Amino acid sequence: MKIFVDTAVLEEILEVKKLGILDGVTTNPTLVSKTGKPWKEAISEILKEVPDKPVSVEVVATDCEGMKREAKELAELGKNVVVKIPCTEDGLRAISELHREGANVKTNVTLVFSPLQALLAAKVGATYVSPFIGRIDDISYDGLQVVEEIVDIYQFYGFETEIIAASIRHVDHVRRCAALGVDIATIPFKVIKQMYKHPLTDIGLERFVKDAEKAGISI
Ligand code: G3P
Repeated sequence: MKIFVDTAVLEEILEVKKLGILDGVTTNPTLVSKTGKPWKEAISEILKEVPDKPVSVEVVATDCEGMKREAKELAELGKNVVVKIPCTEDGLRAISELHREGANVKTNVTLVFSPLQALLAAKVGATYVSPFIGRIDDISYDGLQVVEEIVDIYQFYGFETEIIAASIRHVDHVRRCAALGVDIATIPFKVIKQMYKHPLTDIGLERFVKDAEKAGISI
């Protein structure tokens, strides 16, 4: 499973990169607003540090023509830019038309909450689809169940669109996505840190350090 970090905060992206596990970055207008930086500055800094892995950047237009125009402009910012387009009628149409026109734009259909939305995202040829697990759980449905159905449908028909499990809130979401064979999980920085922390690792390490001293082991 590929690991993307779901943030626009450069320091967080750099820390995940240093760990050697960064496969990509996803942003959205909310995440960019949290950086306190102007949009263009925040995105350019990310693209400078991550020039060779997919970086999702979202359109703000909501009409088909506006989305297509923005998508082409965003794609110019870097060959690794993936344009996030919402799963609306205009959004799906924008992706189909970009394809038909032969535009070289990678797309990520966002704000996906049902298997049928994901089916349509694949049909229009999206590069990625992003089901929002946490927000589905928030309305008392089962976000992981939705992801499982999408995985099954995509496997059944051999769609090439990659599934990005998004709106991940805790480590158990990540564990269950991995068990379902999801292509990618885009994970908040805080949750990535929780993935390697374990109290038994800390206790075990403390004991080994003490016992190494007792045994006179040093290097
Ligand atoms: O990538 C989309 C994701 O960031 C949404 O997460 O926590 O705002 O539901 P959340």
